[in-house]
Amino acid sequence: MSVNPFVTMSNIEKSFNGVPVLKSVTLKVQKGEIHALLGENGAGKSTLMNILGGVHQPDNGFIMMNGKEVKMNNPRVSQDQGISFIHQELNVVSDLRVYENMFLGAELKNKIGFLKVEEMCRQTSNVLSQLGVSINPKEYVRNLDTSYKQLIEIAKALLHKSSLIIMDEPTSSLAEHEVKRLFKLMKNLKKSGVSIIYISHKLKEIKEVCDRYTVLRDGEVVGTGSMKDENLETITRLMVGKSISEDRFMHDHSLGPVLLEVSNLTSEGLFNNINFTLRKGEILGFTGLAGDGRTELFESLFGYRKKYTGKVKINNQLVKIDHPSKAIKAGIGLVPKDRKENGIIKDLSVVHNMSLASMRNFEKTGLIQEKAEHQKFQYYKEKLNIKVHNPRITIDKLSGGNQQKVIIAKWLEVNPDIIIFDNPTQGIDVGAKQEIYHHINELVEQGKAIIILSSEAPEVLKVCHNIYVMYQGEITARLKGEEATEDEIMSYATGSKREAEKIG
Ligand SMILES: Nc1ncnc2c1ncn2[C@@H]1O[C@H](COP(=O)(O)OP(=O)(O)OP(=O)(O)O)[C@@H](O)[C@H]1O
Ligand SMILES: [Mg+2]
Repeated sequence: MSVNPFVTMSNIEKSFNGVPVLKSVTLKVQKGEIHALLGENGAGKSTLMNILGGVHQPDNGFIMMNGKEVKMNNPRVSQDQGISFIHQELNVVSDLRVYENMFLGAELKNKIGFLKVEEMCRQTSNVLSQLGVSINPKEYVRNLDTSYKQLIEIAKALLHKSSLIIMDEPTSSLAEHEVKRLFKLMKNLKKSGVSIIYISHKLKEIKEVCDRYTVLRDGEVVGTGSMKDENLETITRLMVGKSISEDRFMHDHSLGPVLLEVSNLTSEGLFNNINFTLRKGEILGFTGLAGDGRTELFESLFGYRKKYTGKVKINNQLVKIDHPSKAIKAGIGLVPKDRKENGIIKDLSVVHNMSLASMRNFEKTGLIQEKAEHQKFQYYKEKLNIKVHNPRITIDKLSGGNQQKVIIAKWLEVNPDIIIFDNPTQGIDVGAKQEIYHHINELVEQGKAIIILSSEAPEVLKVCHNIYVMYQGEITARLKGEEATEDEIMSYATGSKREAEKIG
């Protein structure tokens, strides 16, 4: 290790409204290393990076780069120092085209001031192809899927030849093959001397790609060192203060009668001939790779998409759901996959985001009962361990993982009989995941039924009674949660194996 780190953040302190968020934090990053920045939701990771990126100013402390002090007075200064920042909350502008996003604020112009559109498109295509993406640079971003938005955000950072790239949960919306490609790219960048600060709650990723780590806990550094000297268990314990078991997480109870029965559900090009039942008290998992159709299937079932054929029965009654309001009436709730786009309303307070879908629980003679609303929020705050000092602040002031917990609370408060969670633990730390699994178990014990959509096989293996694996819009297997293995799921998810005789 060289004597002088490439970047040193020294004794950084930061408070928001009198609440200390970073307490004398020191972070040292070497040239050409991938440094993991770890910690629970709300530990201060994004805040520390916002300081390095010039978004926030520290109350105390200083930053050195290449042995010289630099004041990151605004994001521009940080960029000029060769720092690129891939934000946790996507920063792309939906109403602009892909190439316009890539060059926003740094447009290429010719001598007389005209935009060099074709050149910008060429460079955009080039850098996107390094990530394995082929989209038209002139496409409007609003027409793209979230994973592409995340890839554009990454590509933007690659375009500017940076010496340090901050990646704040870059893979939260990416499919496995996209993650693989990103890692390859990161390893190449590292070889050419670029440093990367990598934030993620996916600890396997961290182990795979990072050289060193620093762990924050409640705004303080509690450990730093070389990745290969530590196992994940030690790092988890540093993060959350206890060990987290990898074992199955299931309360023992018997399942009730069939609550939901889906027959021959088909939507051309999205999913085909889907059949399954969900019983009271059951936790059902749906997993597969990107493009397996599970999100579209359940968006249809929830009434977001109209064009499908087949039958849906709830409590043995045929129902026709062609609008989310009908789904809610029929007792179904859907926690959407993507909180940034479908989950939160940024300008609303934390409490109101929680109560938004269940206003009628809080209304009396037309007035919203603020007190009741706050009491309810306190309940979820404790239950899900939501870290917020003042729930009246707007939700965008919360850390990413805590925003996700509020979205979960919002649907729990609607109290539907069937709750569909799409990618529920996106951005949630390992400890808080346990709390959410625990809560899901409590719900099914009370007779609710839960469907979890997840691309992570370990997640469905951990909590589900039964697991359906999908491949290209079809169910390829129904497995028992306690017997299935990751390898088995993988072979059905890639289409190399299917239980044709039983399913579909
Ligand atoms: N602009 C702000 N105003 C008030 N509080 C803030 C602001 N930004 C962050 N905080 C608070 O600072 C604390 C640390 O948040 P931060 O976003 O840094 O956490 P994090 O470690 O990135 O968590 P996560 O893993 O959930 O993304 C949180 O309690 C958060 O609510
Ligand atoms: Mg964060």
